[in-house]
Amino acid sequence: MTRLQATAIAHSNIAFVKYWGNRDPLLRLPYNDSLSMNLSAATTTTTVAFAEDLSTDRLTIDGEKHIGPALDRVSRQLDLVRLRAGLRLRATVQSRNSFPMGTGIASSASGFAALTMAAAQAAGLSLSEAELSALARRGSGSAARSIPGGYVLWHAGTADSDSFAESVFPADHWDLRDIVAIVSRRHKGLGSTDGHGAAEGSPLFRGRLASVAETLATVRGALASRDMARFGAAIEAEALNLHAIAMTGRPPALYWSPATVAVMHQVQAWRAEGLAVWFTLDAGPNVHLICEGQDAAAVEGGLRNLEFVEGILANRVAGAAHLAPTLVV
Ligand code: PMV
Repeated sequence: MTRLQATAIAHSNIAFVKYWGNRDPLLRLPYNDSLSMNLSAATTTTTVAFAEDLSTDRLTIDGEKHIGPALDRVSRQLDLVRLRAGLRLRATVQSRNSFPMGTGIASSASGFAALTMAAAQAAGLSLSEAELSALARRGSGSAARSIPGGYVLWHAGTADSDSFAESVFPADHWDLRDIVAIVSRRHKGLGSTDGHGAAEGSPLFRGRLASVAETLATVRGALASRDMARFGAAIEAEALNLHAIAMTGRPPALYWSPATVAVMHQVQAWRAEGLAVWFTLDAGPNVHLICEGQDAAAVEGGLRNLEFVEGILANRVAGAAHLAPTLVV
């Protein structure tokens, strides 16, 4: 019996300059370039096995079977791989996250990067990193940035083939840390796919598009010279900018809980006391505290004293998505 299988591991990522809004929602072509770092403590390991005896695709995440919208989205991504490979076989997809489900840590970036790499390998495709990144983008935009390693830039591009991510600095370029303060384990109200659609309705969106290239230049320059103060100020302002768009979108989305705001104020207070820490946010309530390695212990210690912080996920800069021996069948 024909059985084609492969396993891939991908890290999630946190964007310093964010992707928010699609110029082309079907192809997931973003309005602007974005820049991120891969997260060491947030990985997805996915095995894809195409087999003749399957009549439909099957999906298991962290031991739980999924049908409905989650399976449909995975099947659409597998269809893209099948189309390229000229393959008709259905697949079993088994996926595991290193971070517990329901921590509010986005798994779509690592999830679709690992799925795409494993499926392409299993189907016998031989794709470049840029081609894999562009393909992962179709499943979830931010997944494009989880294919290359270290600090990653996603070129918005103009078409399917030139909208991909590449590494701009390796992981060891700068020992930045992302210490995630988990303040809510609930699923966010408006998923990011709908959030991208709502962004264009914000009267502030044009202003964001007019300034985001300058933000990227500042962040990239500060990253190149490891200028923490300049870097931190720019990424914090950028995160607030994204949330201003979300709050004024159509429909509007308020991702913050009271604890989100409390952590943001605490970060600014610590900074006033001399601790070099800044925050960024995804489309959710948890706060990502960004600092250099030398300050990580102080930041973690501070967070542990806050009773409204339910958990901490401490990340270093991680490498690229890669293939692994198949552990589950
Ligand atoms: O990849 P998506 O569709 O889940 O969008 C990610 C959106 C943000 O996390 C808010 C920003 C980003 O660039 O990762």
